[in-house]
Amino acid sequence: MRRKLAAGNWKMNGLAAAVTEAAAIAAYDANGVDVLICPPATLLAQMATLPMSIGGQDCHARTSGAHTGDISAEQLADTGATYTLTGHSERRTDHGETDAMINAKTMAAFAANLTAVVCIGETLSERETNKTLTVIDTQLAGSVPDTASAANTVIAYEPVWAIGTGKVPTNDQIAQVHAHIRARLSKRFSDGADFRILYGGSVKASNATEIFGIVDVDGALVGGASLTAADFTPIIAALAAS
Ligand code: PGA
Repeated sequence: MRRKLAAGNWKMNGLAAAVTEAAAIAAYDANGVDVLICPPATLLAQMATLPMSIGGQDCHARTSGAHTGDISAEQLADTGATYTLTGHSERRTDHGETDAMINAKTMAAFAANLTAVVCIGETLSERETNKTLTVIDTQLAGSVPDTASAANTVIAYEPVWAIGTGKVPTNDQIAQVHAHIRARLSKRFSDGADFRILYGGSVKASNATEIFGIVDVDGALVGGASLTAADFTPIIAALAAS
């Protein structure tokens, strides 16, 4: 039985005052759904005191050393975080992260006892040239370590063209990719059927119920609509009701 997961990715948003929003989200009765917020690293320690899971947005592959501006998985765990995102498309694009780098970061997350939310997804031009499933295969094979399991890894399918754009794939498109990811995981890992697979990209209260009705969608990774309790709690409720 896969536990449903509503995950919020705050990206580079949120000052100290935003902890009030996080507290309101944490206080909401999630009805059995796991709730995770990945705030900026500056807010992790404060938010770790709240009754919900918190996670980093990225981690370095090494545990410590001369890597100015980076944060290690061990440091994330030290704040009280239990998750970290790896391979978000904004990291892949803005910081040139490759599948091999993401694999190493994900291994570092495992070593620090963090659950990794490994993000994958195609660009618009890849979709338009029918390369979506090939891209998904390459990213899954390259970014997800052989030591991944349903206990330490969540997959987030986020089409790059749907992130922050208000554009959402059709239900059939989401269903096709999630079924494909499930099949690949089941082939590669003995517990592949138990991995949680999240959809991400322009999830809002208005489309959440529809998206959560799709087979093999075990929750969502939400950016913009996770920043306030008013926007995020209806998404948690829709997931609980699905
Ligand atoms: P969005 O972002 O919900 O604002 O589209 C999703 C993400 O990047 O994780």
